[in-house]
Amino acid sequence: QAFFRPITNAAPPSPTKRQTKISVIGAGNVGMAIAQTILTQDLTDELVLVDNKADKLRGEMLDLQHAAAFLPRTKIHASVDYAVTAGSDLCIVTAGARQNPGESRLNLLQRNLALFKSIVPPLARYSPQTVLLIVSNPVDVLTYLAWKLSGFPSNRVIGSGTNLDSSRFRFLIADHLDVNAQDVQAYIVGEHGDSSVALWSSISVGGVPVLSFLEKQQIAYEKETLENIHKAVIGSAYEVISLKGYTSWAIGYSVASLARSIIRDQRKIHPVSVLAKGFYGICDEVFLSLPAQLGRGGVLGVTNVHLTEEESQRLRDSAKTILEVQNQLDL
Ligand code: NAI
Ligand code: 2OP
Repeated sequence: QAFFRPITNAAPPSPTKRQTKISVIGAGNVGMAIAQTILTQDLTDELVLVDNKADKLRGEMLDLQHAAAFLPRTKIHASVDYAVTAGSDLCIVTAGARQNPGESRLNLLQRNLALFKSIVPPLARYSPQTVLLIVSNPVDVLTYLAWKLSGFPSNRVIGSGTNLDSSRFRFLIADHLDVNAQDVQAYIVGEHGDSSVALWSSISVGGVPVLSFLEKQQIAYEKETLENIHKAVIGSAYEVISLKGYTSWAIGYSVASLARSIIRDQRKIHPVSVLAKGFYGICDEVFLSLPAQLGRGGVLGVTNVHLTEEESQRLRDSAKTILEVQNQLDL
């Protein structure tokens, strides 16, 4: 006997909306922070976890499933077999080695290269229409690698890039000015890492362009103060890693914000790693962060932010740094 007695003569349900499916590859600190933020923010109907450690994976899946009474209804699956990801709308890759304290992100390339060769092709095979969102480091070079390995058009391969660095930047500026970080519009672009570029000339708070406001009011500011804020952004991950061993919560929220823009077709602008060739004077096939509009199809466009000559030069230098590491790839 069924638990619920169906209503007789009930009208058939109206056509339901298409179910959405997000897969997260890598059930470590970062993958699980992303998974739990996606669940609490009700971003998908189905959430899939994949990892190569079967026991840990099942443990993480059960632990999330046991929160069902407190969360929006989402089907949660997990498997070491990529077949479970079939038909995903979005695949988020977080698997791989992370930095030891003091180690640069770019140093991780060789450790994560082989792993990507075993992860990206099955994802592309099982979900040929998916958007790939890369988080593992070095994120810009691995996003380029994922683009090559998947054979996808570049608009469907995105790196989480400096969406996180820009949040750190906005937090520090907001703290400095004692305002809400959500009222601070500010971008870090270029490499997610040491050669990132702060776009000071376009920062605004509550619609007021900050540098030109200070200049018009003849309020003196030290270039060094600005440089120190950018240095603090670059140092953020090193500091957190030296204190707790890894970073997780901020990247969890950062990637969930990207997932929302993609899955819910929000057309929001995020600084994320995209194929930069042809933008801002960059001539090489390199992925780095630019302010990009994200929607259901992935990258819809790149915003034409005005850069000063110094900012443009720094962006081209950042592209060169990434390219030097990318050239070490044995595809
Ligand atoms: P973690 O060590 O906690 O997790 C990595 C997971 O990958 C583990 O569960 C491991 O079993 C899994 N894994 C390893 N090989 C695999 C394979 N072949 N297939 C499937 N799963 C596999 O590391 P954590 O802290 O989660 O960091 C993961 C990555 O994310 C690192 O590369 C880290 O640098 C990067 N990261 C990137 C950020 C960004 O802003 N782009 C922010 C924070 C971390
Ligand atoms: C972060 O910036 C380590 O890339 C990682 O938190």
